[in-house]
Amino acid sequence: MLQFDQQKFDMRKEASRTLERLVPRLEENFSEFRQSNPEDWTYFLTRLSKYFLDLFTILRHLYGDQYDFFYHVESLLNILAQSWAGRPQQLKALDAEREANPLWFQDHKMLGGVCYVDLFAGDLDSLREKIPYFKELGLTYLHLMPLFQSPDGQNDGGYAISSYRQVDPQLGTMDDLRRLADELRSEGISLVLDFVFNHTSNEHAWALQARAGDDIYQNYYRLFPDRTLPDAYEQHLREIFPDEHPGAFTYFDDIEKWVWTTFHSNQWDLNYANPEVFNQMASEMLFLANQGVEILRLDALAFIWKELGTDCENLPEAHMVVQAYNAVARIAAPALLFKSEAIVHPDEVARYIHPGECQLSYNPLLMALLWNSLATREVNLLLYSMQKRFQIPGRCAWVNYVRCHDDIGWTFSDEDASDLGINAFDHRQFLNAFYTGRFNGSFGRGLAFQENPKTKDSRISGTCASLAGLEKALSEETDREVELAVRRILLLHSIILTIGGIPLIYLGDEIGMLNDYDFREDPAKNGDSRWVHRIAADPKRYARRVDAETLPGRIYQGLQALISRRKAAPVISSGNTDFFDTGNPHVFGFIRQNDTDAMLFLHNFSDFSQTVSANTLQSLLLGGSFRDQVSGLSYQVDRDVVLEPFQFMWLERIV
Ligand code: GLC
Ligand code: GLC
Repeated sequence: MLQFDQQKFDMRKEASRTLERLVPRLEENFSEFRQSNPEDWTYFLTRLSKYFLDLFTILRHLYGDQYDFFYHVESLLNILAQSWAGRPQQLKALDAEREANPLWFQDHKMLGGVCYVDLFAGDLDSLREKIPYFKELGLTYLHLMPLFQSPDGQNDGGYAISSYRQVDPQLGTMDDLRRLADELRSEGISLVLDFVFNHTSNEHAWALQARAGDDIYQNYYRLFPDRTLPDAYEQHLREIFPDEHPGAFTYFDDIEKWVWTTFHSNQWDLNYANPEVFNQMASEMLFLANQGVEILRLDALAFIWKELGTDCENLPEAHMVVQAYNAVARIAAPALLFKSEAIVHPDEVARYIHPGECQLSYNPLLMALLWNSLATREVNLLLYSMQKRFQIPGRCAWVNYVRCHDDIGWTFSDEDASDLGINAFDHRQFLNAFYTGRFNGSFGRGLAFQENPKTKDSRISGTCASLAGLEKALSEETDREVELAVRRILLLHSIILTIGGIPLIYLGDEIGMLNDYDFREDPAKNGDSRWVHRIAADPKRYARRVDAETLPGRIYQGLQALISRRKAAPVISSGNTDFFDTGNPHVFGFIRQNDTDAMLFLHNFSDFSQTVSANTLQSLLLGGSFRDQVSGLSYQVDRDVVLEPFQFMWLERIV
């Protein structure tokens, strides 16, 4: 204990000495800015001293043994000051606003949407014209898929980035992006972009220099002269995109080296053991923040640190890098928040969620288990896992989603499954068979993604509507099946809207877009089944949303009604949710409560009517009578409640 405190004390001393030494030099470098903006500068220094210890402690741990450690610290501080000096006034105003209301993202009015610029609108300018639609839907958060320069042809949907400072010319310019961000913000919509920081494309300027043989830039990546180390690493690595290349390394003839490529061969993993990479990427990150991006989605963050003898996922240093970037943001772009994209074991997902690391996180477990419950019609694993794992630190929020641009990976916990007597391996085989339509009687129409013959692992691609049975129902023209599919779609969305956190809609799903198999004709896409659900918005289908007689209209208006109800119910903000056993294996139940209100939610995952008994409802001690906000009908708690196939209820106490 004494030892530990001594270390902390020494670190504190070292940090403050470092700062004392560096601040005068910063003041000199930024004397012009400081003199013309004295208050701004003081604000910056205050934040710097507030967060410097956190930042320094991590940098010391990661890079302290480098001979030029202090040089790197100093250049990082210059990057921070530079970025702050260039931060537009209206974003500084936003910083102040967010500081006054730091939990703004937990509000029940929050609603997220995500789309590709080109597929949804064409380019950034046309996307601006869609703002009225985003408002009609109720969005307050818009995630645009990567829109930066990237290689022609296969570029992993933009996730192979060649420059973080150049918009893909086909989509527009940086000016267009800033204008869009400003306009969204003035309409109450926060812009969310990816920070793809695990890798750059092999056409990024750094990669090009590395390919030209420059040692400095070769050290930005992880290059190996022969198979010795790659073989040693691969003993413990998971294969992420085995369809594209086995293992995690790709050989490049021009440099005669093996390059670490966790994802595609043209996505080169950055080397965060090099402090220069940390600094340069901090600079890219702050550049994005200064364009008006309010939330950065930290892409593939689980992979950023590598250590021989480990699986190189979720290492403690990966967390440290993210925490250090969080401190960087607190100092130079205080409004900026991070969203974690860790599609890994739920224990590991939870470790990224912290006010000092990622304030927001995708909830891949909920997503996977919703689809699991639709397939099995049972809610046991969903209930058990949520009871155990839904709760996160108070100043954070889940981002709950039904579908996204990626595949569905069955990332539930094997231990949770086994506690319920479910064999995880066999069960994943079943789910894959179910959602590729290979299982007898399945309604799902999805495609396998990255089937790995060695491990038998596989994931699933497909739109919400196709996976929920609409595609099959339409091809067989059965009204009842169509009705059930629509109900399934609304059921899943009802849960993400009420469970607590930010609901995120994959745009297109709100009008029931079906799979599009044309990607098979495109050589840049046919190796990646995720394109089956990355599809162009169909204007005719969107136009039909106003007509409740049409399918898109039924889905859209059903969803709209739920969205308005959520926005009128403060009890559905982030925070605690109490999950309970409804006594019926097909009905998922939870309660949301605050000082003044309580609401009880029931979701029936079965194709048959299901009953929740009066006893169960009474035992929840809520007494009296309830109104279902969805149907408008009232219920007495001393009577059994019957839910139709896939019906859900949002029960509010009537006083
Ligand atoms: C993320 C993205 C995915 C991409 C990968 C590599 O997981 O969601 O689409 O393939 O990172 O950047
Ligand atoms: C893997 C990765 C995840 C990525 C996905 C893309 O599951 O863990 O980060 O989104 O692959 O398919």
